[in-house]
Amino acid sequence: MAPLPALQLTEWNIKRILGYVSWHSKRKTMHCAHVLDALKHDLKRQAPDHICVTGDLVNLGLEQEYKNSALLLRSLGPAKNISIIPGNHEAYGRHYNDYIKRYWSSWLKDDMNIAADTFPYVHIRGDHAFIGISSAIPTWPFMANGYVSEEQCNALGEILVELEAQNKTRVIMIHHPPISGLIQPRKSLSKPYAFLDMVREFGAELILHGHAHKDFDYTIEGMDKPIRVLGVGSASYDNEDMQKKGHYHMITLDGHGTNVQLSIEHRHYNIAKDMFEEGKQA
Ligand SMILES: [Fe+2]
Repeated sequence: MAPLPALQLTEWNIKRILGYVSWHSKRKTMHCAHVLDALKHDLKRQAPDHICVTGDLVNLGLEQEYKNSALLLRSLGPAKNISIIPGNHEAYGRHYNDYIKRYWSSWLKDDMNIAADTFPYVHIRGDHAFIGISSAIPTWPFMANGYVSEEQCNALGEILVELEAQNKTRVIMIHHPPISGLIQPRKSLSKPYAFLDMVREFGAELILHGHAHKDFDYTIEGMDKPIRVLGVGSASYDNEDMQKKGHYHMITLDGHGTNVQLSIEHRHYNIAKDMFEEGKQA
């Protein structure tokens, strides 16, 4: 999210120094406030029933950035209509878990209370359930790996079973792509097997991820049926390149439970019109 707030003296660490340089040398020309404004307008027009945000709302994990992200989320509508998870950028400082609980609590309320901690949480909205997983962990400079703890994976297994029994559509949100090979090893999900084992064994109707800064649409083989996975690029990119244009997905869930049908509309930022419109990524 732009702009980057000023850092307090106590907030500097090596990760943030490098992130600060990256922001001013490159990222601030890519992630633009005017694209976010256009996104907000488009979301108002499209009026989705629910919004899923797959992380990286902040750049350096600063407290002020968390405050700003909460303002942005509030501007999108009632908290009950939004599910959010952290990305690697949320975990740039050692207080990130405190900040997540302090500033994002309105969007993390858990309707099932199976997990002992904040993640995974479940938002049950009518026939559909949105499951928030955290793959955000502190990493060394130049690294952007993620990790899903064993505790989260075990709770996820219980959640998937319970939601199937309730005939709910199971939509899992995780910031990092859950399979290897899509992105560089230094940015990928570490030890993804515990997460994948749960999903393969107990099933899900859809997995949403971000992080890779481009679109992906693929399946993971499950015990009963393939599991659809959608990755989406940055919503705030101001770039002519179709691969990098700011974009998001409008997803229609028709039906519910394991029989749900998905349809995907791609919405992209048009620089000339300064607005989002429908368009398929190449
Ligand atoms: Fe990321």
